[in-house]
Amino acid sequence: MSDARYEIGIIGLGTMGQNLLLNMADHGYAVAGFNRDESKVRALNQRAGDRPIMATSKIEALVAGLRRPRAIMMLVPAGDPVDSVIASLRPHLEEDDLLIDGGNSHFRDTNRRVAELAEDGLHFIGMGVSGGAEGARHGPSLMPGGPEVAYERVRELFEDVAAHVNGEPCITYLGQRSAGHYVKMVHNGIEYGLMQLLAESYDLMHRGLRLTNAELHNVYAAWNAAELNSFLVEITARIFEQEDERGDGLLIDKILDTAKQKGTGKWTSQDALDLGIPTPNIDVAVTMRYLSALKGQRVRASEMLSRPRYGNVGDRGMAIGQLRNAIFASMVITFAQGFSLLQAASTEYDYGLDLEATARIWRGGCIIRASLLEEFRRAYKGKADLDNLLLDPQLGAAVLAREPDLRASIDRALGLGIPVPGLSVALSYLDAYRSERLPANLIQAQRDLFGSHTYQRTDAEGSFHTEWD
Ligand code: 6PG
Repeated sequence: MSDARYEIGIIGLGTMGQNLLLNMADHGYAVAGFNRDESKVRALNQRAGDRPIMATSKIEALVAGLRRPRAIMMLVPAGDPVDSVIASLRPHLEEDDLLIDGGNSHFRDTNRRVAELAEDGLHFIGMGVSGGAEGARHGPSLMPGGPEVAYERVRELFEDVAAHVNGEPCITYLGQRSAGHYVKMVHNGIEYGLMQLLAESYDLMHRGLRLTNAELHNVYAAWNAAELNSFLVEITARIFEQEDERGDGLLIDKILDTAKQKGTGKWTSQDALDLGIPTPNIDVAVTMRYLSALKGQRVRASEMLSRPRYGNVGDRGMAIGQLRNAIFASMVITFAQGFSLLQAASTEYDYGLDLEATARIWRGGCIIRASLLEEFRRAYKGKADLDNLLLDPQLGAAVLAREPDLRASIDRALGLGIPVPGLSVALSYLDAYRSERLPANLIQAQRDLFGSHTYQRTDAEGSFHTEWD
């Protein structure tokens, strides 16, 4: 057991950890797993069969079993658990050993850990892992950042276990320090934005157009078979077929309408605000999760503040077709916001991100995988420093072609009193982004009038102040 032959060790034998170990072993690697909880160790042993997997509840056994310099990956909840695992490991580690954090850690924590461990000659890689339990077992999308020399040691292993699209692995070295965790954070922000859009489409078709669950299943399945092809649309179709194992009917109708969150969407919005990058689709998705959580108030308000129903649904087939185009356009706009945040962060934090590579590794394995990613990749391949995906001629034209349907879908929802903040804000982002002139001249004037904050002029350089009448 302690012949130091294991390629990598994983700490944290939850479903993700177990599945990733099985995935590695299936690719021919001898691997080790650690959990203090004996029942997890037993569970892994049971699933491992005769695969080359060593499972232990003794940290010394894990450390002794690993080839040197060691590679140890943590799959534990973000925050304090990561620091306590590091603290318990540190006395056992030697110079040049590598720790990989595969959780959804905040990028600033990752920066701190990279620096702290480097003091002892230890390497630290923050690696976003996307795709949930399924992804871990059969191929996740992996987003590593940190010291490149250390990444090179584990590159082959992770390339083997990652998802592959057209023979290319969904992993690439992203950059120094927290580059990987930053990219994963933005991935999750985009995930929030896309999920909000799909939730709005459900609301409009369910409460507005009165589609049954079976019809909803058919619509999403048809969307997934065409240009909206993506993991999130695919699972949305599946959801509308799921029976409730605890009673009659479909499960979706029994699930409470309040959505929880672990924080990565909020972090994306927070950092976008800090960097001055507009990401309204992500912001609104976070806000809507908070609004969904006000269930008690919403129930009371629904009795007191009746919603308008002056809208005319019109032809249902036409409405669904328009909505499909509306979702497509607003998905592109949501991705455009996420990528523009990555671009700004790359400059601000000196990550040196390659956005084409980022689009490439998001094509498979991860939650936001979609056929569209191929288009984004093409766009950045043609112009690595593209300011905004909407400025790519083909993507811009694709969005413009669907703009009337986006507007019509919003109109329809507004008339029916169905909230579509994601769709609306996507359209407003487009409308504002392509406005040569915005009303910010008035805001400048107001600031100067009430606070002497000065303003800039269109016809002269410098700052000006007026004694307003
Ligand atoms: C992934 C997911 C994963 C997790 C989300 C859920 O890429 O596999 O993003 O990391 O399921 O973080 O996030 P919320 O709990 O905040 O919705």
